This record gives sequence, C-alpha cells and structure tokens, in this order.
Amino acid sequence: MKQAIGAVVLVAAVVAGFIMWIAADVAPRAAFIPYAAPSQKMEPDYLRAVYSPLHFQPAIRTATDAQCLSCHSEVVEDRVRDASPAGQKTERMLAWYQRTPTYAGGQDTFHRRHLLTPLAKRLMHLQCNTCHQGHDPREEAQGATADAAQQDDISYTLRKQVNPETTCLKCHGAFPWQLMGLPGPWEEHKAAFGNNCLTCHAAIRTQRHELTYLNAEAIEQAGKDSGDACHGCHGGRSWYRISYPYARTPWPGMPADMPEWAKNRPTQSEARFLKPVAAQGGKP
Ligand code: HEC
Ligand code: HEC
Ligand code: HEC
Ligand code: HEC
Ligand code: HEC
Repeated sequence: MKQAIGAVVLVAAVVAGFIMWIAADVAPRAAFIPYAAPSQKMEPDYLRAVYSPLHFQPAIRTATDAQCLSCHSEVVEDRVRDASPAGQKTERMLAWYQRTPTYAGGQDTFHRRHLLTPLAKRLMHLQCNTCHQGHDPREEAQGATADAAQQDDISYTLRKQVNPETTCLKCHGAFPWQLMGLPGPWEEHKAAFGNNCLTCHAAIRTQRHELTYLNAEAIEQAGKDSGDACHGCHGGRSWYRISYPYARTPWPGMPADMPEWAKNRPTQSEARFLKPVAAQGGKP
C-alpha cells in the first residue's frame, strides 16, 4: 500500500512539474513586445510620413542624415540583444567576419557598424543617401510592368531603396588577385608582400578613394600600418564571389597599353560621389 501511495505521489509530482514547465514556456515573455494595432487617428500622419518627399528623388539626393533620423532614430539607437532568445550569449557568437584583425568592440547592428563604429568613422563618411536612393513610385521590381526596369537590370532595390551592386559590392567584393598578377588569394600570399598592399600600390592605381563617402587620407595611413585595413574593403569581408568593376582612374606613370580586362572600365568614379573640385574637371 505504502509503495502504491508513493508511486501515485511521484506520478502526480512529475505531472505537476510537466504542467508548470509547459505553462512557463507558453506564458508571454517580457522580452517580446506584443503587437498593438495602431490607432485609426494616427493613420493620416503615418501615410504622410511614408510618402514624405524625402523617400523619393530628387529630395533624397540632398537629404541630410539629421532629416532622416528625425523619424528613423531607431536605425542608430537600436542595439543587438545580449543573448539570443535561446540564451546564447552574443559575445560568444562571433561570425568569421567578426574575427578579422580590424574588428573591435561588441557585436553591433548593421547601420551602427557603417555609421558609428570607430573604424567606420575613421575610414568612411557614409550617409543615409550614400546607400538609400529613394523609391520608384510606380514599380520597384524589374520586369513587372512594361515601363518598369528591365528584367536584366540588376539594381534590385525594392522597398529598402538600396542597390547592393553599386554600394555593398564596392567594399564587400572578392579580392581580384588575377587582375593583379598575384599567384593566388591574398590570404595565401600576403606574407610574401609583408602583408602590405603598398608594395605595389605606392606606384600602381595611386589615384584612389578621393570620394565624398571615403576618408582617403585616413585609408592610406591605415594601409601603411597594415594590409588588413585595405583587404577589409577589398576581399576581407566579401559577401560576393565577384569583385566590383572599379573605375580605372588614370594615375601618374600609368602604362600606355591597356590590359584586356580594363577595356570596358570607366575612367572616373560615379559622378555623384566625386568631390566638388574633381567634379569641376580638376585633378583631386
Ligand atoms: C516624416 C518621417 C520620415 C522621414 C523624414 C523619413 N522617413 Fe523613412 N519611413 C517613414 C515611415 C513612417 C516609413 C514606413 C515604415 C513602416 O511602415 O514600417 C518609412 C520607411 C522607410 C524605409 C523602408 C523601411 C522598410 O522596413 O522597408 C526606408 C529604407 C526609409 N524609410 C529610409 C528613409 C531615409 C533614407 C530617409 C531620409 C532621406 C527617410 N526615410 C526619411 C518615415 C520617415
Ligand atoms: C551602407 C549602406 C547604408 C547606409 C549608410 C544606411 N542604410 Fe539604411 N539600410 C541599408 C540596407 C541594405 C537596409 C536593409 C537591411 C535589411 O533588410 O535588413 C537598410 C534598412 C533601413 C531601414 C529599414 C529598417 C531596418 O533596419 O531594416 C531604414 C528605416 C533605414 N535603413 C534608414 C537609414 C537611415 C535613416 C540611414 C542614415 C542614418 C541609413 N539607413 C543608412 C543600407 C544602408
Ligand atoms: C564604403 C565601404 C562600405 C560599403 C559601401 C558597405 N560596407 Fe559593409 N562594412 C564596411 C566596413 C569597413 C565594415 C567593418 C566595420 C567595423 O568593423 O566596424 C563593414 C561591415 C559590414 C558587416 C558586418 C557587420 C558586423 O556585424 O560585424 C556587414 C554585414 C556589412 N558590412 C554589410 C554591408 C551591406 C549589405 C552593404 C550594402 C548595403 C555594405 N555593407 C556596404 C564597409 C562598407
Ligand atoms: C604584386 C603587386 C600587387 C599587390 C601586392 C597588390 N596589388 Fe592591387 N593591383 C596590382 C595591379 C598590377 C593591379 C592592376 C593595375 C591596372 O589597372 O593595370 C591592381 C589592381 C587593384 C585594384 C583594382 C581592381 C580593379 O578591378 O580595377 C584594387 C582594388 C587593388 N588592386 C587592391 C589591392 C589591395 C587591397 C591589395 C592588398 C590587400 C593589393 N591590391 C595588393 C598589383 C598589386
Ligand atoms: C573603407 C573601405 C576601403 C578601404 C579601407 C580601402 N578601399 Fe580601396 N576602394 C574602396 C572603394 C569603395 C573603392 C571604389 C571607389 C570608386 O567607386 O571609384 C575603392 C577603389 C580602390 C582602387 C581603384 C581606384 C581607381 O579609381 O582606379 C584601388 C587601387 C584601391 N581601392 C586600393 C586600395 C588600397 C591599396 C587600400 C589600402 C591602402 C584600400 N584600397 C583601402 C574602398 C576601400
């Protein structure tokens, strides 16, 4: 009899335990904010903001970061969680590109890594409209209507208003070692060049980075300290297997004969990023 009571008590305890465990898992968690439908009164203001002229050309071209941030402060204020919902600590979950020699500080959001980290502020001067180019009010997907962008147009901007091929690819493309006459990828051969791109680039393609969104001088200084800084934007964080077909800006002592691969290259960077003096036709 004692044993039977013991067994019943044990089973009851286990069942109760299970019920409590499941209930705790089903209960709403403080960390997740429940959805609240916006009030009807807010609707006109919301639509006015969505169709703000700042989301379209031409206003977006001259928009300042402060104008965008007056509504979108979340893009620079939001921070990553300390831990994933499953409890994995953020600081212990670094991806390969967060183990590069130039990576510093805790994990951070995409926007903050491009606008606010010490490395970003030293080497670059990106603005909202460097990347965000505004909506096409008619159709943002290629080939969807007769007058939409053609199917083979690769400016896949959609609602984020960013064309990855003309922004991200410039700094996150593969390292084009073949064009440089190197025997293989930089990781494998950098020791032979003292991990220094300037071994060659003190004399080759020396007219570079004189653009509004890059800090040319600081980049050269960082490159003198280590090739890791240069490699960071030219293969070290490549999300692509292709590399960007850079403009081939003429440089002093440039050889007269042009390599085959360079035949279709522009000789000047995208006009919208040229510094005023260069845009007037002067040499940077
Ligand atoms: C008057 C306030 C306001 C201003 C100013 C403003 N936005 Fe917006 N923006 C909005 C609202 C509201 C939405 C719609 C958000 C939603 O529905 O989730 C939006 C949407 C967006 C989106 C798409 C978001 C998504 O999740 O698809 C991007 C990108 C964006 N804005 C960028 C910008 C940029 C860049 C600027 C400055 C040139 C700017 N906005 C200026 C209010 C504003
Ligand atoms: C380096 C390029 C780049 C810069 C600079 C940039 N953005 Fe973005 N932004 C993007 C991309 C790409 C996305 C889409 C990200 C995604 O879908 O996760 C995005 C997404 C957004 C969104 C949608 C919400 C979100 O977080 O996904 C808003 C709003 C936005 N950006 C506003 C801004 C504002 C305001 C600035 C300037 C302070 C800015 N962006 C600077 C590339 C950029
Ligand atoms: C002008 C150069 C430049 C452009 C353009 C650029 N990036 Fe970056 N990106 C960087 C640099 C530099 C870092 C490293 C920043 C750091 O370590 O603080 C970085 C870091 C990143 C990271 C890693 C963030 C992390 O958590 O460590 C991602 C993801 C990324 N970029 C995606 C993009 C995408 C997507 C675009 C296009 C919308 C883009 N980048 C455009 C230079 C650029
Ligand atoms: C052995 C010499 C050598 C070394 C070392 C070298 N490069 Fe180059 N690089 C070249 C040559 C040669 C070219 C092509 C010049 C031309 O346009 O005719 C080139 C071209 C480039 C281009 C332009 C590619 C294009 O498609 O237009 C970039 C970007 C570049 N190098 C970056 C780097 C970086 C970053 C490093 C270090 C991580 C580096 N290079 C190391 C010789 C070198
Ligand atoms: C912050 C990111 C970044 C860093 C760091 C960086 N680059 Fe670049 N580099 C770029 C971008 C973006 C372009 C393309 C600019 C344009 O559109 O013309 C470029 C273009 C070039 C070009 C082609 C220039 C031309 O017009 O012919 C060469 C060569 C080059 N970089 C070499 C280097 C070397 C060497 C270093 C280190 C001293 C370096 N880069 C560091 C982002 C970077």
